[in-house]
Amino acid sequence: MSKYIIKTLHGLEEVLCKELKAIGGLNPQPLKRAASCEGDLSFLYKANVCLRTAISILKPINRFRARDEEQLYRGVQNINWSSIFGMANTFAITASVNSDHFNHSKYVALKSKDAIVDQFRKKYGERPSIDVENPDIKINIHIARDQVTVSLDSSGDTLNKRGYRKEGVFAPLNEVLAAGLVSLSGWNKKTDFVDPMCGSGTILIEAAMMARNIAPNINRKSFAFKNWKDFNQETWDKVLADAKNQETETDCQFFGSDISDKNLRVAVGNCFEASLAGKIKFENCDIRDLNVPFESGIAITNPPYGERLQLNDMNEFYKEISDAMKKNFEGYDFWVISSNMDALKHLRLRTSGKITMYNGSLECKFNKYEMYRGTKKVRE
Ligand SMILES: C[S@@+](CC[C@H](N)C(=O)[O-])C[C@H]1O[C@@H](n2cnc3c(N)ncnc32)[C@H](O)[C@@H]1O
Repeated sequence: MSKYIIKTLHGLEEVLCKELKAIGGLNPQPLKRAASCEGDLSFLYKANVCLRTAISILKPINRFRARDEEQLYRGVQNINWSSIFGMANTFAITASVNSDHFNHSKYVALKSKDAIVDQFRKKYGERPSIDVENPDIKINIHIARDQVTVSLDSSGDTLNKRGYRKEGVFAPLNEVLAAGLVSLSGWNKKTDFVDPMCGSGTILIEAAMMARNIAPNINRKSFAFKNWKDFNQETWDKVLADAKNQETETDCQFFGSDISDKNLRVAVGNCFEASLAGKIKFENCDIRDLNVPFESGIAITNPPYGERLQLNDMNEFYKEISDAMKKNFEGYDFWVISSNMDALKHLRLRTSGKITMYNGSLECKFNKYEMYRGTKKVRE
């Protein structure tokens, strides 16, 4: 059994803990933008493939105290690095520092790199190379006061990179955030699902994968743990086969529309890459003219905020979205995520849920509107 630190986004810590429990993680505990959990090697592989709200999974390999660079160097050298990776592997170190004893994270990374390289050189007369862009092995050094934690990043590329996004639209949602929003909405995976401003379809794709129990990274080839010396092919094959066996069909229907034909083409391409070709219907339509195809269901959407995307008058636009919601989405639970608090007020509808989230650095509200038949406009 090892302890792992699983990084996530602000607001998704509890959702992540539930996911960890569901895949057999022991003692999941929420932390700030992360969770901790225990499990074996098979759990680590499963977590990388199956978790929808994880950004990366760290395996702490040593903890020690250091108050100066010499103690840091010795602490990092105490780890037997050649038992973890080989000379042929490239590596990179990231450091995060919150300490009076160390001022610069880059310097901490440099000193730790020296300790690793010197150890290899002393043993073998040669050293592995650094590759900051695309390393085989990612090492993370975290210093809080004088407490140093050295971890291996088992994921490598962050886990939101599922592999289905080949080209971007102007402002696509992070896949982990999209999956988190679907989970936070409490959607029961039974009612029909709509995104009327779907862009490249991230929310719909994440929801459709959830309904089919498709592990989000089932098709991803690259994980850093595959480069570790303890990589176990048999365990990995079993984890993949088990995940494949868990996939199911669903009666849920999925529908996405967008005013941009170009974005919809990207959405169709993404669906194909996510093995969801034909499973989500798309229509090129302005939300203001949309006739939503299902009687009732859930809608989750990420309209333009007016930050990166320019529309003339956001407040007026949100007012029109609200008219469309009242006209076309009766019987729906309608969720909107936006950083434009002013424009959100112009929806002029009573919220029945409000969650603070971050889309990158933008603070957002993720608001729920229950569109009862005959929903009346409410003065803010
Ligand atoms: C922030 S992006 C959504 C990104 C999407 N969640 C994704 O992950 O790709 C907003 C989307 O709203 C669409 N949009 C803007 N005005 C619209 C309108 N009147 N009706 C429908 N879609 C609209 C834009 O074309 C854009 O794709």
